[in-house]
Amino acid sequence: MTAPRIENLTESIAVDAVSALGELEGAAFCARLARAGDDLVEALIALYGAQATPALLERVVGVALAGATARCPALRLRDRLREVDDDWYLGACQIGYATYVDRFCGTLAALPGHLDYLQELGVTYLHLMPLLRPREGESDGGYAVADYRELDPRLGTIADLEAVAAALHERGMNLCVDLVINHTAAEHAWARAAVAGDRRMRARYLTFPDRTVPDLYERTLPEVFPDTAPGSFTDEPAMGRVVWTTFNTWQWDLDYTSPDTFAAMFEEMVSVANRGVDVLRLDAVPFTWKVMGTDCQNQYGAHRLLQAFRALMRVTAPSVVFKAEAIVPAKLLLPYLGGHDAFRPECEIAYNNQLMVMLWSAAASRDANLMVRALRGVGTPPLGTTWVNYLRCHDDIGWAVSDDDAAAAGIDGAAHRRFLADFYADRFTGSHAKGVDFQHNPETGDVRTSGMAAALAGIDQARIDGDELALAGAIRRLVLLYSVVYAYGGIPLIWMGDEIALANDARWQDDPLHAADSRWINRPPMSWEVATRRSVSGSVEERVFSAMRRLGAARRSGDALRADATLAVLDSGNRHVLAFTRHHRRGQRLLALANFGDERQSVSDDLLRASGITSFVTVVSADGPVRVVDGRLTLDGLGYAWLAGA
Ligand code: GLC
Repeated sequence: MTAPRIENLTESIAVDAVSALGELEGAAFCARLARAGDDLVEALIALYGAQATPALLERVVGVALAGATARCPALRLRDRLREVDDDWYLGACQIGYATYVDRFCGTLAALPGHLDYLQELGVTYLHLMPLLRPREGESDGGYAVADYRELDPRLGTIADLEAVAAALHERGMNLCVDLVINHTAAEHAWARAAVAGDRRMRARYLTFPDRTVPDLYERTLPEVFPDTAPGSFTDEPAMGRVVWTTFNTWQWDLDYTSPDTFAAMFEEMVSVANRGVDVLRLDAVPFTWKVMGTDCQNQYGAHRLLQAFRALMRVTAPSVVFKAEAIVPAKLLLPYLGGHDAFRPECEIAYNNQLMVMLWSAAASRDANLMVRALRGVGTPPLGTTWVNYLRCHDDIGWAVSDDDAAAAGIDGAAHRRFLADFYADRFTGSHAKGVDFQHNPETGDVRTSGMAAALAGIDQARIDGDELALAGAIRRLVLLYSVVYAYGGIPLIWMGDEIALANDARWQDDPLHAADSRWINRPPMSWEVATRRSVSGSVEERVFSAMRRLGAARRSGDALRADATLAVLDSGNRHVLAFTRHHRRGQRLLALANFGDERQSVSDDLLRASGITSFVTVVSADGPVRVVDGRLTLDGLGYAWLAGA
């Protein structure tokens, strides 16, 4: 049997590429193929062994060429520009914003009318939550896709999406869109055909004749939604088979051990990218490859799959980058950015879940000690890749505190996880938080938390109590947390409404389709009426919004805030204070300080020397310029400061 070789394809593909794309672009296509070809072939052989045939290679390269040919002139130009500016997402100017279209402004057609608002906040990267046509009824917020080629009709049409992409691009902004590759809705045409007896379509899913094999897998499989969708398999009587359903019963896991599934999903991926998407947020990527006897997450095959997609997308649409949604233990994160024994291009961006968890942990305990250890354990993203840093998103918070990190910080992991779940669901005396539980698993004792950032930071409670002092503290806490998100290496991502301290959605349970899923408490409709108060001096909205704008402006102040500046988390010598430095090779240095304590705290000015800073200016802070007094730097309670120097 012959192994696939890019060289064997080159001649025939060169002819096809030139006839489809013209001489210049055809040659560019072939050059990209030659460049990414080894990565592609290596990944395909690792995934499919003898099934990685020349015919498979020809098929997927054919999809890439058709995809490249279908790109409109504006996107081809974007490809050319970003082949040069290939690490635009590392720029200090990048600020992200994530939102559901319907909750933000109703429809895609209305979205361009709100771009001034986003620009006022400094946003350059807009992540629109799932917008492809979902199944009817409950759809896991759109993560159960029935058709990748159509939009959710409630949001608009493909043409509306293209218009949004063009409007963003015109303003120098980027579009990020979700692509769910682990599963489709049970209502997707592939699944329907499988039920109707189409064997090829059935092979696209993981199905079993009975429960024997599923039961063996279940022995080591954790449950993702133990409350609402226990187990990972669903009986499908119409097909007479048991289907793998990691998430909900109507989300069918795809079988990527079949090369046909891989090739078919790549076609869907290209069709989405070609609407003008700059960043594909690849949903639930740890789950795509299953291995008996494991938790079926983060497997070797899941990484190889991403590498194969990565190589093909580079050939098709070089301006498109991948963002991995891998909410996994910290030590398993870097491989999603290509960090393996050798660097293998995978995703350019990944969610920094560990930072998010540690921010809430430090805010509850007023202590940055555990955070320092945990952040150091995550490691440094490979060159050319970065994090998206965030405080909240549309999902729950899983209390990812490792036992080892906890032990190193002198605390008990299980007890601390319990404390955090209790604290944020307001079951802990002295808690300021108004979150709610998500998916309590009595077997493991695991409880996760839902809630808007403002509610978790204490703003909702202080408003209910009419307590001005507590409110001022809670606002400081929210801004403090975002100050770390903005200063840490990567793209800061604002969750819709946090910029105006939007409260929990009090009516989240009114919709019967949402009532069992508490994550909807942190998916409120945007209130444009509340947003107008950002210009009312002294209002909560103005205090938060203007602070976020200041942080955004400060980010643009220098290269030390670029994602490729080196980051080091320091021992501040004061357990309440997080200190980290950023150093860019062009010379700029920055020391970021964040005091999680309620009282005034100081740290030694040795931290400046440890950061290589001899003289500094305060770029941004909670309370005006910071000065060295008697060899100490002082921050008020819940204060922060970024000190830039050389
Ligand atoms: C991701 C999404 C989450 C969804 C899950 C299944 O984790 O963020 O909202 O439930 O994937 O698609």
